Amino acid sequence: MKQRQVLLGVTGGIAAYKIPLLVREFVKRGTVVRAIMTESAKEFVTPLTLSTLTGAEVVVGTFPSAGSGHAHGTWHIDLARWGDMLIIAPATANVVARLAHGIADDAVSTLALAYRKEILVCPAMDHDMWEHRATQANLSALRECGYEVLPPEVGELASGLTGPGRLPEITRIADAAERILAGSRLDMKGMKLLVTAGPTIEAIDPVRYIGNRSSGKMGFAVASAAARRGAHVTLVAGPVNLRTPRGVARVDVESAAEMDRAVKRLHRRTDGIVMAAAVADFTPVTVSRRKIKKSTVKGGTMELRLRETPDILKSLSTLKPRKPLVGFALETHDETRNAGKKLREKGVDLLVLNNPLRKGSEFGGDTNSVTIFTRGGKPRKLGILPKFGVANALLDRLVRFMAKGGSGGRTSPGTGRKKPAAGRRPGKKSSARRSRR
Ligand code: C5P
Repeated sequence: MKQRQVLLGVTGGIAAYKIPLLVREFVKRGTVVRAIMTESAKEFVTPLTLSTLTGAEVVVGTFPSAGSGHAHGTWHIDLARWGDMLIIAPATANVVARLAHGIADDAVSTLALAYRKEILVCPAMDHDMWEHRATQANLSALRECGYEVLPPEVGELASGLTGPGRLPEITRIADAAERILAGSRLDMKGMKLLVTAGPTIEAIDPVRYIGNRSSGKMGFAVASAAARRGAHVTLVAGPVNLRTPRGVARVDVESAAEMDRAVKRLHRRTDGIVMAAAVADFTPVTVSRRKIKKSTVKGGTMELRLRETPDILKSLSTLKPRKPLVGFALETHDETRNAGKKLREKGVDLLVLNNPLRKGSEFGGDTNSVTIFTRGGKPRKLGILPKFGVANALLDRLVRFMAKGGSGGRTSPGTGRKKPAAGRRPGKKSSARRSRR
């Protein structure tokens, strides 16, 4: 880890007494460390110990005292730009809960909220607290947001009880940090990526709609992975029950028509588009303004007339300037033939085929087993992988494709060879809702 820079956030758990040894381990590996600590961490380890070992001033509390090098109000923004990653060790159940909910009321949680690079959280606590549903739900939320979590080890705890909750061995934490840093590529730095995710829902009346089983997890994983590789990601999401990944701007939409408008509005100022959304193919011809009463339906059957929705992806391939396009194909039979046909007919550059009837690719699951089709190339079948792994494999190919000039040929990520087109900011008139987290 030569010349790597690590920010170390220490919170108030008994395992904090081991953190000076973690600093020593990093220093031994050639890593520059700076520490931040909460007021309660001071009960277990002194700022003087950490500043002596790191050779730098330690930020303590949200409002560092006058005279310290961090006495100004924007220290968290300055520090957030420093270093290659933030490690929070030990992370108490309390700080895990606050991170999961975006609460910033101490130095560590404030910095974490402002931090855009990798964050490794090392929880350590009593095993009952670790196993509590609230803690586990908060950890899932953190993972969804793009935090790495190094689970605690099973063993003897400070309380004298035995179970999961021990801070992992110092070398294991340092190794985990090295692995993350080795794998963290910034090969999409500066690139603007538009990703769609989730289903669209098509209203029948004010109460009912036609929908599909897409969970949105695949598209969210693509958005999260791209943001971690340095891209500016805008995620256009249908109705899903997922948290916005860190560093991703989100636009919420409901129907295919809304998604179409949002994507077209954002098209000009993106360098590439990944359409992972399961867009409805049909929508009711008319939407009843009032709830359709059962009594008005004659003979026990109801007819619903549907018309085709705009094929967003297909229309993007004809828009100028042409942007690199990735499509998804969900096929339950004749997969390879259908995917090849779709690649050509939709005019996309990469197509990701998956079959929800196959093991590892089920709706709502955390894994996927896909085959990636490229124009002129041989299809590449990937085994069952976590959706985040599939996302990175897909982005690897997209980055390579764009580096060769891409179909849009407008930019090569990280090289800034050509400037991406500037566009309008999202208009206020749109029914889509935009937020950044
Ligand atoms: O035709 P099919 O729905 O199988 O194509 C799937 C791909 O096309 C996905 O990338 C999806 O996001 C996109 N699509 C679209 N507009 C539609 C239907 C699908 O952009 N109306």
